[in-house]
Amino acid sequence: MRPDASPSLPPSSAHAPSASASASAFPPAAPPDSLVARLRAAGCVFAEDEARLLVATARAPAELAAMTERRVSGLPLEHVLGWAEFAGLRIAVDTGVFVPRRRTEFLVRCAVALAPAPPAAPVVLDLCCGTGAVGAAVLDALGGRGVLHAADVDPAAVRCARRNLDGLGGHVHEGDLFDALPGSLRGRIDILAANVPYVPTGDIPLLPPEARDHEPRTALDGGPDGLALLRRVAAAALPWLSPTATLLTETTPHQAPAATHLLTACGYTSRTITDDDLEATVVTATPASRS
Ligand SMILES: C[S@@+](CC[C@H](N)C(=O)[O-])C[C@H]1O[C@@H](n2cnc3c(N)ncnc32)[C@H](O)[C@@H]1O
Repeated sequence: MRPDASPSLPPSSAHAPSASASASAFPPAAPPDSLVARLRAAGCVFAEDEARLLVATARAPAELAAMTERRVSGLPLEHVLGWAEFAGLRIAVDTGVFVPRRRTEFLVRCAVALAPAPPAAPVVLDLCCGTGAVGAAVLDALGGRGVLHAADVDPAAVRCARRNLDGLGGHVHEGDLFDALPGSLRGRIDILAANVPYVPTGDIPLLPPEARDHEPRTALDGGPDGLALLRRVAAAALPWLSPTATLLTETTPHQAPAATHLLTACGYTSRTITDDDLEATVVTATPASRS
């Protein structure tokens, strides 16, 4: 589990143990102490919570044993479970796909706050979608009021996003940034949520092993200053945006001034919003011709 989020059971947990289960029944009423100890010894900071999630997700003792092995070998908890909780939703997370971070829920909240008011049905694009968690959460928070598109260059991410978004009526596209999109979206996107990779190349060796070793480099590497992808998005987005659109991207406090500067240079009015609880920084941009 990532350091920015202690794990918690999602509302849709399927295998909650019964309080009346006998000692030999599966799942057990509480995670065995031996499991907690094993996870703790492997360096899992939230060992009790992780044990609870493993027990609640495994369907049989053999599966719990296999999941535990994968976790203690260093695989991110979300890849072991096959899902992550994000903004109250249970999001499928396939091995090799970026794990949605708790801090990104702030990007979702900002997007929802800036979406056109009802009865409009905003066109939402989750660009660089990974699992599609951001798009799913925005659509959910809008009460389904909206048309969702998502795109990613990584075929594994696209497959995973389809698992999460097909049932919501989302449209998932594969390709490099806007090249992935149907031309019919030009000029129609109201909310462009782009959680692009933003780790400076030189900082990748400093990431926790769970990210460094188990998430694809394309999901992390933002080029020399971490802003290479955002630069490309900013340069290409305007023709795709509706006149009242907002582009939102997550960044670090350190990168935010350069991010707003590059967006301003590309013809946007940009500002930075932060959330102390989630330690999240979001940069928003609207076409400057609108102001
Ligand atoms: C930081 S992850 C964010 C994933 C997801 N939006 C989230 O917040 O959980 C960045 C994603 O961008 C994708 N990506 C990287 N370069 C891309 C490109 N040129 N075009 C489209 N997607 C790209 C990666 O495959 C990865 O899924």
